[in-house]
Amino acid sequence: LNNGLARTPQMGWNSWNYFACNINETVIKETADALISTGLADLGYVYVNIDDCWSFVTRDSEGQLVPDPKTFPSGIKALADYVHGKGLKLGIYSDAGAFTCEVRPGSLFHEKDDASLFASWDLDYLKYDNCFNLGIKPEKRYPPMRDALNATGRTIFYSLCEWGVDDPALWAGKVGNSWRTTDDINDTWASMTTIADLNDKWASYAGPGGWNDPDMLEVGNGGMSYQEYRSHFSIWSLMKAPLLVGCDVRNITAEAFEILSNEEVIAVNQDSLGVQGRKVYETGTDGCLQVWAGPLSGHRLAVVLWNRCSEAATITAGWEVLGLESSTSVSVRDLWQHKYVAVDAVASFGAQVDSHDCHMYIFTPQTVARSAI
Ligand code: DGJ
Repeated sequence: LNNGLARTPQMGWNSWNYFACNINETVIKETADALISTGLADLGYVYVNIDDCWSFVTRDSEGQLVPDPKTFPSGIKALADYVHGKGLKLGIYSDAGAFTCEVRPGSLFHEKDDASLFASWDLDYLKYDNCFNLGIKPEKRYPPMRDALNATGRTIFYSLCEWGVDDPALWAGKVGNSWRTTDDINDTWASMTTIADLNDKWASYAGPGGWNDPDMLEVGNGGMSYQEYRSHFSIWSLMKAPLLVGCDVRNITAEAFEILSNEEVIAVNQDSLGVQGRKVYETGTDGCLQVWAGPLSGHRLAVVLWNRCSEAATITAGWEVLGLESSTSVSVRDLWQHKYVAVDAVASFGAQVDSHDCHMYIFTPQTVARSAI
């Protein structure tokens, strides 16, 4: 969507994966505080996004949405002021249907009123869900909210949450800043790997202004191992997915923090070229030894060797699958070890990768210097 936002994938936090409906204004404020105190905000995680359940179960007598008075007694505008005071942005959630998935009022046919209300609260982001949609196609239900947001005069990030229904990559580029390509993620290896593959299919449709959204991060929620979470974060970064933290940042574990705060991996996600990396090679049982890669600015490449098999194995990226001439000499920086592991790799580069783990690299080809000599 050409609204000036999402030149790189959005980064921040969302309440749903950890808190579900158990949210209140204290949780949101303390999360904003924690994004600052941990340093995650400085790394780019600036959107603080409230998901479902913030709203009271009915509209008021004037037909307006109202924050649940028990959980958000100070109102959303006060929360926006608090979050803005910290240099962060506040996001909210509604639904392109009669109700949200948790049966709060939806915004379908109330787009103008609700967009004006969100703008009057100084909100920065809207996630727009797909429940109770009356069987109307998403292509019909999502553009009215885009137009209503645009008409407010406030620039608001527009995140489509249509669960991949009707192949959004084919139509959502003009509608939203990101669109979901799949059903909801859950905190398991099976869910995460399945979603990675589904999202990969739409790689060519992502770019500055509009990104494929394979759903929010589960890193730190406890259902996967350190290696699996590292793979999750590496692949999401390579795929130019939104990086929306989904754990309780107030009580983040050291391991989850180490993963989410890896500046070199974040830099791949936020690279100015904005090209979604993809699976370029697979071998082994059911293709469980994989190479994922994509171009970065400055003629560099991001490369992930991903072992989805049950045993450690060597994975080799041949230059042919990366689109490099076999004679090209490449320096290889390991983004998890934070060091160069080769200065003049030629034709291929391989490494032993533990089960369910990945290695992530930046390859910098040296061809220009060499042919100039
Ligand atoms: C379905 C969405 O896909 C989730 O991300 C979350 O927003 C829930 N609905 C909330 O009800």
